Amino acid sequence: MKFFKEDTKTAFEAISQAQQIAFAPIVFQATKALRDLGILKLVEDSGFEGVLLEDVFPKLNLSEYGVRVLLEAGLGIGLVIKNNNKYTITKTGNFILNDKMTRVNFDFTNDVCYEGMFTLTDSIKQGKPTGLKALGNWPTVYEGLSTMKQPAQNSWFSFDHYYSDGSFDSALKQLFKRKPKHILDIGGNTGKFTMKCLQYDDEVKMTILDLPQQLGMAKENIDKANFTDRVNYFPINILDESHRFPKGADAIWMSQFLDCFNEDEIVSILKRCHEALDENGYVYIMETFWDRQKFEPGAFSLQMTSLYFTNIANGNSQMYDSNVFNKLIEKAGFTVIEQIDNIGISHTVQVCKKK
Ligand SMILES: C[S@@+](CC[C@H](N)C(=O)[O-])C[C@H]1O[C@@H](n2cnc3c(N)ncnc32)[C@H](O)[C@@H]1O
Repeated sequence: MKFFKEDTKTAFEAISQAQQIAFAPIVFQATKALRDLGILKLVEDSGFEGVLLEDVFPKLNLSEYGVRVLLEAGLGIGLVIKNNNKYTITKTGNFILNDKMTRVNFDFTNDVCYEGMFTLTDSIKQGKPTGLKALGNWPTVYEGLSTMKQPAQNSWFSFDHYYSDGSFDSALKQLFKRKPKHILDIGGNTGKFTMKCLQYDDEVKMTILDLPQQLGMAKENIDKANFTDRVNYFPINILDESHRFPKGADAIWMSQFLDCFNEDEIVSILKRCHEALDENGYVYIMETFWDRQKFEPGAFSLQMTSLYFTNIANGNSQMYDSNVFNKLIEKAGFTVIEQIDNIGISHTVQVCKKK
């Protein structure tokens, strides 16, 4: 791990960053207002020439005062610059407006996490997702996914799918290298990866394991795509250790799944994989490990996402450090025989075999 080893900032840079943190929620909401009210777009459209405050607020039906305070905040945040009284957009402003990853992260933070995060300290003390009640009354976020109100539901799925969808194609190549015949897709969610497998290989059979609510959504999608005959559904609450997995598969696939659980739960799940898997089968784990990121902002995003698990999702899991995670794999009776980084934007695929 090449990041987080040195404190390289000058005192001035450090105190500046401290102010960014002190005002972070206001920075965030001001940016959201500039984006959602159309102010940033209007500035962008003015190109290199720029736009006067007087030309912005009437077009958007907003007050001069409202647009002025937001644009002045935008200067401090670094979203716009001002020359000869005219505002032009910066590169950061451009990413806020047009970059898909930034938008997905932003909307997830706002719609799923923002309100709940006020109680993060309580979550740490209690080991419970105390922020979840801002979204609904469920034991964990997963029971609530299929009925969650909007825009939280869309933002949750967009966040989840943005990262996993981008890695599915490279992951498929790794998974089918060993020509599996029957794959368990544990935590298969809405069936997206299962359908990718069925398209990739005409022979393969799939079994999806997930909570009943998610299997309902998966079945609907899979039936629509005419794959009904090649898929089995196995409703399960994996936290109940007495629930064993169906036997007879030669590959088990878990994508962005084990990060939903704490260390003991991960060992318990992997032990049940060990029991269910054919003797010469493989387990494929696709995860985002913060210590295996190429760039520091990637590690940063994952470290922050961990706190979504702490406060909203379940209170006890995270985006792991691969060193912590690999010990759990060993403890469950598997060896990691391959670790393939840079799958999609930020994923690693670990190929595991029984010891
Ligand atoms: C983050 S999503 C990942 C979905 C998909 N594999 C992907 O890569 O996009 C985690 C999945 O785990 C499922 N899950 C979470 N807790 C579960 C539990 N206790 N039992 C069964 N499935 C669970 C959720 O319903 C969800 O579909």
